[in-house]
Amino acid sequence: MKKNLPVGLLIGIAMVFLLFTQALASGGSRAVKTKTGILLVTFGTSVPQAQRAFDHIGDAVKAAFPHTPVRWAYTSHMIRKKLAKQGRLLDSPEIALARMMDEGFTHVAVQSLHTIPGKEFHDLLLNARRFEGMAGGIKRIAVGQPLLSADIDLARSADAVLKMIPEQRRPQEAVVMMGHGTSHPSNAFYAALVYRVQLNDPNLFIGTVEEFPEIDLIKRQLINRKITKAYLIPLMSVAGDHARNDLSGDDPRSWKSILTLAGIECVPVLKGTAEFAPFVEIWIDHLKSAVNRLGH
Ligand code: CO
Repeated sequence: MKKNLPVGLLIGIAMVFLLFTQALASGGSRAVKTKTGILLVTFGTSVPQAQRAFDHIGDAVKAAFPHTPVRWAYTSHMIRKKLAKQGRLLDSPEIALARMMDEGFTHVAVQSLHTIPGKEFHDLLLNARRFEGMAGGIKRIAVGQPLLSADIDLARSADAVLKMIPEQRRPQEAVVMMGHGTSHPSNAFYAALVYRVQLNDPNLFIGTVEEFPEIDLIKRQLINRKITKAYLIPLMSVAGDHARNDLSGDDPRSWKSILTLAGIECVPVLKGTAEFAPFVEIWIDHLKSAVNRLGH
């Protein structure tokens, strides 16, 4: 009797264990709850006044998805380093995804807040895919397209651009917008957008800091048209460092200095596209499409 008791107990424990694992196997997939999150990814900014553009887009995301946790990530290592020195800790997309994985998110919609699908967007796409389907990790990740990714975005943005122009501007005055520009083939989006915009507003120009169309080309066009006044507006999500220095700064190489020297009066408008509802609606629609692709 004394010898048999532990054996019976062991058999009992084994049977309970067997039943438990069977229950897990049959109902395991239903037992795991889904947890959906949104990750907003931008280049980032270290300019405090530019933050309101991100707040604006963050509010719009919360309004569209009131029950979904929203996280932010900055792709720029330089900006994250700069902000960390001020005590503001921002994640890279990879760290943010690792954190979300650790917090048990099963489905994540990653929304690119970039303007064009350039190198940063494609890097984000690649790394987001690497995070999908890890053991015990996020099951499904969908990446939303940046602002300009299809012809419909160009059509909508061509209308949205007109909303950024100050009311007092007269048709014979120019609007010169500054995009970032890239050596990536997606640089073509800027010229594609300006083609559409000029159908409605022939004196609106879009140039870029880094690539074609350059400010010298735009300057020649303004001179040819005998334009004497130009509104300078960034075509970037926030009016950050490029808008405040390369576009409207006092450095002789800024667009303001170059055009002023050519006899064109410049009026800078320091607002990013993320501060304007018609642009934010495009990003939100791309996010909605990403959330739909999560498939639940
Ligand atoms: Co730059």
